[in-house]
Amino acid sequence: YGDFNQKIDYVFKIVLIGDSAVGKSQLLARFARNEFSLDSKATIGVEFQTRTLAIDHKTIKAQIWDTAGQERYRAVTSAYYRGAVGALLVYDITKRQSFDHVARWLEELRGHADKNIVIMLIGNKSDLGTLRTVPTEDAKEFAQRESLFFMETSALESINVESAFLTVLTEIY
Ligand code: GTP
Ligand code: MG
Repeated sequence: YGDFNQKIDYVFKIVLIGDSAVGKSQLLARFARNEFSLDSKATIGVEFQTRTLAIDHKTIKAQIWDTAGQERYRAVTSAYYRGAVGALLVYDITKRQSFDHVARWLEELRGHADKNIVIMLIGNKSDLGTLRTVPTEDAKEFAQRESLFFMETSALESINVESAFLTVLTEIY
C-alpha cells in the first residue's frame, strides 16, 4: 500500500466500541499511523481514520470509526453503526468491569448493525499481564458462545493489532 493514485476496490467501514479507557483510540492510532500515546485523551463525539491496504491483490480502504466509551460523549448510535461491516469490541484485561460490560455492547451492536457484521472481541493491554483480572479462557469461552473472533492485543507494544484488524478485513472480504 502507499501508492497515492491507486484505485480503491472496496471501502469497508469498521467500528470500535467498548468502555472508556480500554484503548480503542490507541488501537486505531497504532493501526492507522503506527503511533501510540500514553496520555491519550478521552474521545468526544466521533472520529475516524483510514488505512489503505492490499488483500488478495485488491486495494481495500479501511475506514475505522472511533467513538467515546463514555455515554455523555457518544456519537448518535444509529449513525455510528450505519453501514458498518466489521466491529472491534474492546475490553481491558486489567479491568473486570470493562469485560462485564461486553454483553451490553454486543446487544447494542446487534440491535443496530447489519446482521452479517464481522465482530472481533479484543482484550487489550496484554502488556499489563501482572495486573490481569480477566482470564483469557473466560473471554475465549464468551467469544465462542457468541460466535465472535477473539484476540488479546497491546496497542502499547504493538502486539496483535495488525493481526486483529487484518482478520476482520479478510473475513469481510
Ligand atoms: P474513550 O475515548 O474514553 O472511550 O477511551 P479509549 O477506549 O479510546 O481509550 P484510549 O485509547 O484513550 O486509552 C486509554 C488509556 O489507556 C491511555 O492512557 C492509553 O495510553 C492507555 N492504553 C491504551 N492501550 C494500551 C495498551 O495496550 N497498553 C497499556 N499499558 N496502556 C494502553
Ligand atoms: Mg477514545
